[in-house]
Amino acid sequence: MKEEIVVRPARNSDREAVFKFCEKTWSWGDYIPQFWDKWMKETDGKIFVATISSVPVGMSHVRVDKRKKEAWLSAARTAPEHRRKGIATAIAKECMKYAKRNGAVKARLVTSSDNKAARIVLQKLGFTPIAEFVEMKTEKIRRLDSLKSRWGRAEDLNALWKFLQESNIFQRSAGLYTILFRWYSLTREDLERFLREKKAIVYEGDAQIQGLILIDDSTARMWQENTLQTCYVDGSREAIIDMLSFLLTRCFEAGTRKVYGFACNDESLVSTMKEVGFEAPEGVEIVYEKEL
Ligand SMILES: CC(C)(COP(=O)(O)OP(=O)(O)OC[C@H]1O[C@@H](n2cnc3c(N)ncnc32)[C@H](O)[C@@H]1OP(=O)(O)O)[C@@H](O)C(=O)NCCC(=O)NCCS
Repeated sequence: MKEEIVVRPARNSDREAVFKFCEKTWSWGDYIPQFWDKWMKETDGKIFVATISSVPVGMSHVRVDKRKKEAWLSAARTAPEHRRKGIATAIAKECMKYAKRNGAVKARLVTSSDNKAARIVLQKLGFTPIAEFVEMKTEKIRRLDSLKSRWGRAEDLNALWKFLQESNIFQRSAGLYTILFRWYSLTREDLERFLREKKAIVYEGDAQIQGLILIDDSTARMWQENTLQTCYVDGSREAIIDMLSFLLTRCFEAGTRKVYGFACNDESLVSTMKEVGFEAPEGVEIVYEKEL
């Protein structure tokens, strides 16, 4: 008899069963237990689980940004002994229905280029790859000379927005920036917030803005470590070296130990970041999108 797969919102009582089948997702384990309670309390998101004979055998998480009308899917997991039964597909469809009901017009998610299983599931679900990113890192935090970089200010907003609209990197990034492995559309309002919070570094040459780096320190809070990340990196080689030198010097002064360098997977961008001491990326992260 064919096993019946039921997909429903997660209950608190599912946690032990879910944590159990996630124990060996990756060689180091899984991050699901760290996020479960937070996700269960969300008012703009949900965990869905799939059950067979009332036992949880799969999960996924979805969160909707109502203002941007976009949904982010994450944490698709199927118990190893139940894979290839259509479980991830069934849960993803439920997540997308939820997202649509809550006003999203598109859904996105990220997977590593080497995750063959996830990439095939996504393709079958009608998702298309829209941009590629890398995660680099450096612990070579030191003072470096920078000449034309500074913190962005509120009055830079228009010039920065124009810079982005004309930027090849922004186009290749599908207009996205990242915080903690979730990618968001970068709007003028976001940019304004980065400027207000002193999290935008700009490079000014010939009285014109020619480079931008956005940063965030959620990694420090989330992983309890003294780190920060780049959310978006854009500019010529000269601009990027200068802005990263500015950033590493500020990190040195603040005692930050490590910088995660998230950036568009652009060959010259990656090699420029290596010049400043960032390690080569281990893989490529692909962001997929589907209209709902
Ligand atoms: C990726 C994952 C969630 C897929 O779950 P699943 O429940 O097995 O997926 P489905 O059964 O819905 O797969 C649908 C289709 O995708 C393809 N597919 C799924 N896994 C595959 C694999 N390992 N190799 C090749 N094709 C695969 C198949 O075409 C499959 O249909 P078929 O079985 O009828 O041929 C599961 O492998 C998993 O938990 N992996 C570890 C965690 C992970 O990588 N999560 C994704 C992070 S983005």
